Formats: sequence, C-alpha cells, structure tokens
Amino acid sequence: MIDIEDVKKMDRLDPLAPFRKQFYNAAHEIYLDGNSLGKLPIAAIQLLENTISNQWGKQLIQSWNEHWLELPKRLAQKYSLLLNASKGELILGESTSVRIYQVLFALIESGKYPKQLLTDELNFPTDLYVMQALTKQFSLHELKIIKYGQEIEAEISILKKAMEDSPGIFCLSLVSYKSAYMYPMKELNQWAAAHQSIIVWDLSHAVGAIEIDLKSTETQVALGCTYKYMNGGPGSPAFLYVSNELQEGLKNPIQGWFGHQKPFDFVPQYEAAQGLDQFYNGTPPVLSLQAIEPGIDLTLEAGMNTIRKKSVLQSEFLIGLIQSELVPLHYQLQSPEQSHLRGSHVALSHPAAWQICQALIKGDRNTPKIIPDFRPPHFIRLGITPLTTRFEDLWWVVIQLKSIVESKVYLHFDSQKKNVT
Ligand SMILES: Cc1ncc(COP(=O)(O)O)c(C=O)c1O
Repeated sequence: MIDIEDVKKMDRLDPLAPFRKQFYNAAHEIYLDGNSLGKLPIAAIQLLENTISNQWGKQLIQSWNEHWLELPKRLAQKYSLLLNASKGELILGESTSVRIYQVLFALIESGKYPKQLLTDELNFPTDLYVMQALTKQFSLHELKIIKYGQEIEAEISILKKAMEDSPGIFCLSLVSYKSAYMYPMKELNQWAAAHQSIIVWDLSHAVGAIEIDLKSTETQVALGCTYKYMNGGPGSPAFLYVSNELQEGLKNPIQGWFGHQKPFDFVPQYEAAQGLDQFYNGTPPVLSLQAIEPGIDLTLEAGMNTIRKKSVLQSEFLIGLIQSELVPLHYQLQSPEQSHLRGSHVALSHPAAWQICQALIKGDRNTPKIIPDFRPPHFIRLGITPLTTRFEDLWWVVIQLKSIVESKVYLHFDSQKKNVT
C-alpha cells in the first residue's frame, strides 16, 4: 500500500487545499459524509449570528424591507451561475420533495406531454413517493418504474426504449444516491425531446460535485437540495430550474401569496406572478436561505471545473485502494469504475456493512474517528467533497476498513440499524 508520506505530498500539491480552512473541522475526525450533509462553512456562523442578533433581534420586521425580501432572488442569481441558468429560470425555496410535486403536477396539468409518469429503480425514494401520489391523484396509468435487474448502473438502451414505447414525464436522479452512477444528461434530454417526453432531473447528489451546464445539456427542468455538496446546512432550501421556453402554461398547484403578482396588495383574488416567480409559495425561510450563501460563494470561488477534477482524482485513488486492499477481504465496489459514469461518492458493500460503519465511527486509539454513511441493505458510501476531503482521509478509511475486517472487531457492534445512518 502507498506510504502515508507520499499521500501527504499529494495533499500538499492540491490546489484546493486552502479551502479546507474555510470549514469547521472537528479535531481528530475524518468526515466522508458530505454527500449527505455538507460541512459547516465558517462564514455561515458569522452570517447567522449577525442575522439573529441584529436583523432579527434588533431590527425585527424592518429587516424584511432592508434585507430579507430581496434575499431569495439575489441568491437565486448567484446560484444560477453554477448551473448556467438564465435570469428568471431558477428559484430557491421549499424542499426537493415539494418542488418535485409542484413541477410534476404542473407538467401533467399543462398537457404538454403524454400523461404518464415514469422513473427507474435507481431513483431516490422521495421521488418515487411523490410520483406514486400524483399517479393516484390524476388517475394516471400505473407509475412505470424501469428496472435494470441491478442497482448500480442504468441501461441507457432500456431507458430510451421506454421513452419510445411509453412517452411521458420522466424523473431521474442525475447521480444515483446508492452507487453514484451518472446518466448521460444531454443524450437523454435530446432523446426525450425527440420522443414527446421530458426529463425532470433531480440534481441533489450532483450539484456542487460535478459540472452541470443546463443550457448545453438542453435541460428543461431540474431541481435538488442544497445541503449536500453545497454545504447549505440541515434542511436548507432546494432549487428549482425551469427553462424559459417551458415556463409558459405551467401553473403552481400551491397558490400562495408569495407567488402572487402583488403579494403586498392583499387582494382576495389570486393572480399568478410572471414566469417562475409564481412557484414561490409562502414566506421564505430567511435563516436557512442565508445559510446557503457561504457555500455558494466558496463553490464559485473554487470553480466547478477544479472541483470536479479533484473529485475524479480522489475517486480514482480511492477505488484503486479498494481494489488492491479491500476486495480480497470480501468488500465489493458498488460504483461504476469509469469516472465519466460516476458522481462524487464511492460505494462499496460488505455483508457486515452496518457493523463495520459503527466500528469506523468509533475509531480506536491509533486512528481518527471516521464518518461514512450506510444505505440498506449493505452499502457503505464514502463521500468525496473536494473543498474539504484530503487524500490522507481516503488512505485512512481504507486502512481502517481493512483492519476492522481482519481483526473482526466489527463483531462487537450491534447489528440493529438506527434511523439516520
Ligand atoms: C436524489 C435525492 N432527492 C431528494 C432528496 C431529499 O429530498 P428532501 O430535500 O425533500 O428531503 C435526497 C436526499 O438525500 C436525494 O438524495
């Protein structure tokens, strides 16, 4: 196995290394779960302290006019730079689940596409649940869940055939939450458009980790959370993108006052605001919106191209170590081997994955505590977040995964799973 001194040298040569200091880093802890909940930017602490003590504490209601009413739009403009969205094509607010509901509802009702919802078995459960509800609500044909017979990679020919045979409204996660498989976005968007279909892309596991150009990929609708690679904080608001050309004829099913043309006229009759603005609903969540800004700033400063380059380098480094050190110990790689098919986490499996995760988290006298995450039935996911992850962190996790199985120490841990893993 490569020597730790050589690994430390790789970290010294890393152009993104200075960004690590911009995040709160707990001592003696290696965090490999930024694909689930991103780390806390130090700037967010100061920002929120100021909001709480000054804007909320002292200025109270006046802060709406002075600071808060313009906040969602100002942040959406910055966020648009990450994805190459134009003015008026992106808004921030609500959860991803709510945004999926709103936009799928609007698409079904618009009559622009055949009234059939489709997805595949790699998609995240909340996307499936929302689609199940809408299928029932609109009395559509049964929700079509495309199967590939395994949970690692989509088969593009099967997906394309589904668009040919039953065109409609598809929802896919660009980077699959279990295996990190990444779809060919542009190819599928073009195929969908040529077959009376549309794809709603869930970018939760992709934004901030891979380069995404919504224009050049001909994306019509995308959404996703901001609390993973964007470091927006627990439950931070999601984003919704709808291309300008598609907005005409889409109606928000939740007609709230913040989606009204003139919310502060307090008139009884709803008149939808222009364009995507009508997809605002109620009062914006000021504290959690503000918390997103430092993560956006740091990501823009580092540049998505540099972030992606480091993510690929680190994933290849980790996969190399998994193959040489862990596969002989009955671990299996559960992510695509080719970098262009993979997002920024690496999944591996082991029959005792849950107990192994517990042993990693506990650490021991000689090694730091390591935070991975676990997904049933036996996946260990190792999230690579280039603004903070060091090569050294990846070296340590492999050393520990190896030693936990060789020493059988994992047998001392409870096999009963907790809720948040
Ligand atoms: C692909 C994907 N979609 C949606 C969500 C969660 O949605 P929400 O923000 O509504 O909880 C997650 C959470 O991990 C996810 O990975």
